[in-house]
Amino acid sequence: MNEKILVVNLLNFKPIKLTEGIYWVGVKDWSRKIFDAFAPLERGTSYNSYLVKGSTSVALIDTVESDFQSEFFEKLESVVNIKDIKYVIMNHAEPDHSGSIPVVMEKASDAKLVTTAFGAKLAKVFYHVPDERIKIVRDGDIIDLGGRTLKFIEAPMLHWPETMFTYLVEDGVLFSCDFFSAHLAEGIWDDDVSDIIEFSKEYWATIMMPFRTNAISALKKISNLKIKMIAPSHGPIIRHPEKILEKYNEWTEGKTDKKVLILYVSMYKHTESIARLLESEFFNRGINVKLYDLVQANLSEVSKNMADSSAIVLAVPTIIGSIHPIPFNYLYLLKLLKPPIKYAGVIITFGWGTSADKQIEELLKDSKIEILDTIKVNVNLSEDNKKQILSLVEKIEAKLRT
Ligand SMILES: [Fe+2]
Ligand SMILES: [Fe+2]
Repeated sequence: MNEKILVVNLLNFKPIKLTEGIYWVGVKDWSRKIFDAFAPLERGTSYNSYLVKGSTSVALIDTVESDFQSEFFEKLESVVNIKDIKYVIMNHAEPDHSGSIPVVMEKASDAKLVTTAFGAKLAKVFYHVPDERIKIVRDGDIIDLGGRTLKFIEAPMLHWPETMFTYLVEDGVLFSCDFFSAHLAEGIWDDDVSDIIEFSKEYWATIMMPFRTNAISALKKISNLKIKMIAPSHGPIIRHPEKILEKYNEWTEGKTDKKVLILYVSMYKHTESIARLLESEFFNRGINVKLYDLVQANLSEVSKNMADSSAIVLAVPTIIGSIHPIPFNYLYLLKLLKPPIKYAGVIITFGWGTSADKQIEELLKDSKIEILDTIKVNVNLSEDNKKQILSLVEKIEAKLRT
């Protein structure tokens, strides 16, 4: 075990003091390799839970995945008598945050679960919390902990309908749940990880991007708050919030770079050679281009590149007369994640017949992506195909330069 990991693991067993009376009591999941069963994680994740002490009451904000309970309770008990917790704030019902709620509610037997009206429904379904132990809060409601005030901000669809933020007024700490998160096990603070923004962006792309309208509303709601620190549910605690707020403003606006994303799959190298030709044509024109073989690609990384590309070119083969299943999945991902990509080019290779063009049109029909050209290539590139490809590259270049 290298020295850095050893130090971090030792820290793993201790709470982190954010400021007097506020503690991080979360856990680090170094070995998690995939999230929501579709997005690969490169450097693990964390489940952040926070304890806030006022002069009269104690609140616990979110919990951790149920597999990590023994470590979680060990930490919690080192800073508080669990029976003294009066409020368990459930910002979000998803099990990565709330999986330990049943045991917390059992141990903190006098505590109320604080959540939105929708959260109350989910608390019953997921965690069997009875009505009499739930306190429903609405946008702007407060709870006084004695010298410390928790203010609740409804933030629906970031990431589920019940989601809310909790703002600690006197300390200027925003407990933002999934919003502003990053899947990273390492680091206590944002400035511990030099490339944290890349992970925040990947998180944005795979979790938040489909909800851009809701994200804009949430940013507006918090714009008047004095935010000194953001305490998200995954990844390091952000003590320099300016950068992430600036980035979230860009991402919610759907600001794209003059960048082209080429995604391809190739069975017999024909499609690969077309993808490489496209790459060199864009590169030679000075256009930022990223190319991924979807068979080898990391889905989280591709999603991150969907978040800031202006155009996408799909070069895909035909199998049994239809689109190959791997690009089919990525087209579905485009439909699901709703990236701000504006233009697409489609190149289909086939041997004896294809309906892939119709399938692609169907999959993209509800998106705001304009298909500039669909080019069909029968095994090898004909002279006509070469002209069509150059014309597609020129059309994309013209769009990017305007
Ligand atoms: Fe979530
Ligand atoms: Fe989460």
